[in-house]
Amino acid sequence: MRIGVLCGGGDCPGLNPAIRGIYLRGLDFSDEIIGILDGWKGLLEKKTQKLELSDIDEIMGRGGTILGTSRTNPYKKENGGKVCFDNFKELGLDSLIAIGGDDTLGVANKLFSDFNMPVVGVPKTMDNDLSATDWTFGFDTSVTSAIDALEKLRDTGRSHRRIMILEVMGRDTGWVALFTAIGGGADYVLIPEMNVNLEKMCEHLKKVYERKKHALVVVSEGIDLGKEETGSVDEFGHTILQKKGVGKIISDEIEKRTGIETRLAVIGHIQRGGTPTLFDRILGVRTGIKAVDLIHEKKFGRMVAQIGNKIADVSLSEGVGKTKFVDKEWIDLVDTVFK
Ligand code: F6P
Repeated sequence: MRIGVLCGGGDCPGLNPAIRGIYLRGLDFSDEIIGILDGWKGLLEKKTQKLELSDIDEIMGRGGTILGTSRTNPYKKENGGKVCFDNFKELGLDSLIAIGGDDTLGVANKLFSDFNMPVVGVPKTMDNDLSATDWTFGFDTSVTSAIDALEKLRDTGRSHRRIMILEVMGRDTGWVALFTAIGGGADYVLIPEMNVNLEKMCEHLKKVYERKKHALVVVSEGIDLGKEETGSVDEFGHTILQKKGVGKIISDEIEKRTGIETRLAVIGHIQRGGTPTLFDRILGVRTGIKAVDLIHEKKFGRMVAQIGNKIADVSLSEGVGKTKFVDKEWIDLVDTVFK
């Protein structure tokens, strides 16, 4: 079979292992794997690269994606869906694997329902916010990087007797911030799923400071401070949250309310790069392999999912459009883990 593969949306560590899994499983079936460059943009423009073994030989430990990615939404272009489908046929592809988060998989689902295009999805996102799968690759590595940053902030915060704030990504959900804060032993966390109570937070930080003479706070970029959202949106309509700068607002408020010197660090895209962790490597490879299996089983319109420790599949229509928010079970733990 001639299988196209593309990566859409934000990059993350684990994409290259997934591409490697796809290629290696394809070899078992003598498939040809055609990389589509820069996400849906590449399909709109027929920009491809036939993958060879030498392309994937040494990519296991490389962050990002060898295929490139973009936030291009073909459905925002005139006749974009149809162009994608026509190009898919012109390229002689038998099926397409779309690796991405909710936006990319949403487009894959639409192409499947509008044109019966033989697509299969592989979930990825550092935000870990896809409801159909327990874990997505990218998350473990980005949280590991954020914890590393937090440990460094602890060193300087302790030396200068300061409160240190780390703003992390995660979009509308707080998985990245919460796991960074718990995993890094922070003193407080602000996530979109919980109301921001500045007074309560500052009282808590004053107590922590009395004890340790420093404190660490993790702030998710997506928290709602009741201010109007400003700034640009991407082609899928998402506000570019980093530009909102909630970390700065929180940092200024803490300093004003506690009288303690406070500094902010925004990890930003640093947490999207770097060599994938073991977890993300294995999940990437496993999901890539499964996608090729789904194609050979003719299970189109489906996406790979990790459910428990099993690699399973669900229909794309079930899997997209539902954000997985931090649930009560975790929120109930917050008072226990931050003392
Ligand atoms: O969805 C992944 C993510 O890293 C979010 O956490 C973040 O809000 C967004 O992408 C940033 O996107 P971009 O790289 O397009 O600025």
